[in-house]
This record gives sequence, C-alpha cells and structure tokens, in this order.
Amino acid sequence: MDQPTRGQWITFEGIDGAGKSMQLSWFSERLLERLKPFGISLLTTREPGGTPLSETIREWLLRQPMQLETETLLIFAARSEHLATVIQPALERGDWVLCDRFTDATFAYQGGGRGLACARIAALEAWVQQGLQPDLTVLFDIPAEIASARRGAVRTPDKFESESHAFFTRVRDAYLRRARKAPHRFVRIDATRSVEEIRQTLEKMIEKL
Ligand code: TMP
Repeated sequence: MDQPTRGQWITFEGIDGAGKSMQLSWFSERLLERLKPFGISLLTTREPGGTPLSETIREWLLRQPMQLETETLLIFAARSEHLATVIQPALERGDWVLCDRFTDATFAYQGGGRGLACARIAALEAWVQQGLQPDLTVLFDIPAEIASARRGAVRTPDKFESESHAFFTRVRDAYLRRARKAPHRFVRIDATRSVEEIRQTLEKMIEKL
C-alpha cells in the first residue's frame, strides 16, 4: 500500500495577549472545512501540553517558581513526549497538525525573555526534534503595552502573564529575530489590527495552503 503523504504542520506564536489562541480556534474550524473534502484530518493541539503527561508538566510550568534551567528542560521533556506520541504519528498518517506554540516560544520566552543562551536551546531542539520543524509558523506580532492592555484583568495571571512589559518586549524582539532567520517558514501578522482584518489575512493563507 502507498504511504500517505506527510501532513502539513502549522504553528501559531506570539506574546501573551496577542489574540493568537482566539484566532487559532477560528482558523482551525475554517481549515478543517477546507481539508474535509480531501479526506484529511486536522489535529489541533498546544504547547506546553498536548498529552496527559505534558499537560501535567504545563501546570507545573505555569504555577510553580523554578530555576530557568529546570523550566527549559521541563518544556523540552513535555515537547519530546508530545512530538513522539502525538505530532509525529499524526503527520505520518497524513493528518495536518495545528499547534498553539512550539520551540519558537522557547527561543522567545526562555531565550529572549529570561536570557538563556540560544545555543543551549538549540542543542535541546536538535536532540528532541532531530531536524523536524513546522512547515508554517504564523507570528501574531504586537507591542507589549497593547498586548498587556488586551490581557486586562480577566482572570488571575499565571507565572508568565505576570511578567513585566520589558520582559514581553524582549520576548517580542526574540520572536522577530527568529522570524528573520527563517523567512521561508514564518508569516508575520500585525496583531494590532481588528479581529475581522486578521481573519481576512488568515482566510487568504488558508486559500494558499
Ligand atoms: P499559552 O498561554 O499560549 O497556552 O502558553 C502558556 C505560556 O507558556 C505562555 O505564557 C508562554 C509560555 N511558554 C514558554 O515560556 N516557553 C515555551 O516554550 C512555550 C511553548 C510556552
């Protein structure tokens, strides 16, 4: 029997408050509508998380203070499990995968935000991913002050959401540097625009895909 064609792997990235997760659920529904006629399934998942073990690690990461090295290693432990047991098998089946954040977030948050050397992150990336990278990364780009105003005070902020504007500005800059290094993979979206305008851009992206 023929091997199924490997599925496409799309990630969404951006600082907290960029509107990424809300757009992701809309995008996921629209993309699924377009894939169904071809008999293709779409798996929507997230990081940190995506498996029972990785979701447990997520809870620790978002709630507990810890050393930067511990944080980074836990992120990659959760990622290794998620990649090996969920993402890779789905792509090999020919399913498409839409993931809310992936390793670009580690370069942005632990690298840019917290100051961990990029070489350390790159070493873990090489070990865990063995060269595997998303096919497309949509970066929701927004200044830290606007994102913080959008986050507002809807609920108790987690460990990352409680960080300063300066932290989120460094995270944003690190995302932009990452995007400049891999222009073939990244699409930058101006996330200061209205929900409707952003959806129009995403709709065009789905057409192309
Ligand atoms: P979320 O709120 O978008 O689900 O992400 C959870 C938090 O985890 C978010 O504040 C960013 C943080 N994070 C990192 O610091 N490093 C990472 O590698 C990932 C995937 C997320």
